[in-house]
Amino acid sequence: MLAPESFYHSASQDRIDLLVAAHKPGHALERPFYMDPDIYERDLERVFYRHWHCLAHESVIPNPGDFEVFKLASEAVILSRAKDGSIHAMLNLCRHRGAEVCTKPKGNAKAFVCPYHAWTYGNDGALRAARLMPKDFKREEHGLKKLHVRTVEGLVFISFAKEPLDFSEVENLLHATAGQYGWGEAKVAHREMYTINANWKLAVENYVECYHCGPAHPEYSQTHALEQPLHMIEELNARMEARTCALGIDVGAGDHWQTSRNGKEAIHAFRYALYDGVKTGSKDGSALSTLMGRFSDFDGGVTSVHLGGTTFLVCYADHGMIYRFIPRSVDVCEMELIWLVDAKAEEGRDYDLEKLTWLWKVTTDEDKAIIEHTARGVRSHFYEPGPIAPMEQNELRYINWYLDEVSRP
Ligand code: FES
Ligand SMILES: [Fe+2]
Repeated sequence: MLAPESFYHSASQDRIDLLVAAHKPGHALERPFYMDPDIYERDLERVFYRHWHCLAHESVIPNPGDFEVFKLASEAVILSRAKDGSIHAMLNLCRHRGAEVCTKPKGNAKAFVCPYHAWTYGNDGALRAARLMPKDFKREEHGLKKLHVRTVEGLVFISFAKEPLDFSEVENLLHATAGQYGWGEAKVAHREMYTINANWKLAVENYVECYHCGPAHPEYSQTHALEQPLHMIEELNARMEARTCALGIDVGAGDHWQTSRNGKEAIHAFRYALYDGVKTGSKDGSALSTLMGRFSDFDGGVTSVHLGGTTFLVCYADHGMIYRFIPRSVDVCEMELIWLVDAKAEEGRDYDLEKLTWLWKVTTDEDKAIIEHTARGVRSHFYEPGPIAPMEQNELRYINWYLDEVSRP
């Protein structure tokens, strides 16, 4: 699959490069990074179309013929399962004159028939029939445009890049993290899409730092020690790691960070403790569902994974969270939250959906509000990027990573 060709004037490119060069180290990004349509287009070209994105857990398309359409930036991607069980991702874009081929958001189909002139594509994207075309028309050259797809521990990733970033180390780390939590045998308990009136980077920047957790998330801060500076929770973290080890589990121990500079996808994995006695991310710390993967008991820990520029995972012993950040325009993005539980867990018997989803729903409502407060604030001509706090080291890492990506030739 091809990422769109560069569509920038060299003048705007120079202007963006100057802005990147003028960035004050250790500070937030300047106003244009959140508002300028040219920078948004550059974000898409250099960051979005270059990186891997988690689209879904594969359990949302369990049977041959199952499909779902995902919208990201200006693209619509059909994710489908073919007769042989393989998963395909292709652009919802007819190779005749560009109409949307699939008009339903999800379902089951042996073929996609374009509503315009009825070109017919298989659920692997191959063009099967094109009415009344000349004899020398080559159907094999007019299949739907395919994206690269990888499925790891049940997570389906896509890349729009012609030559995608190397995914092997990410795969290894996902086996060592999500794999220990049995995500390959999980199912989706709930999904929720949030529309946020802010540039996508404001949403991601908010996600990666927990300096705001204390003031903005009283519910989360009651159970998750990450609301405190790391040096203040070392003992808590050590006790948690000892419990994890006692269960015979090695969750890709410690802090792991790989940038994407060397052509490999970026990944950051780290662990932190819940407060003593807290089992999982719930209202009162009590269990929410049956244990997953290799966990025979609760260890009171959380494994957090930041992957590429848009995918974030949170693993608890009894459920998991996938966060997908989706740019939609320069000042609107979406955030999908996906709750995973063990495939054998039954709603009503093993988990209560309202209790399961309570924490991250309240937390995300709070996040949406603070991200939108920030989006309104940075619109001011008097906005001046302030210093990043020591507790925002992941935010600093993210900003530096982003600037490196967006200034790459
Ligand atoms: S645009 Fe799809 S068949 Fe013509
Ligand atoms: Fe938050």
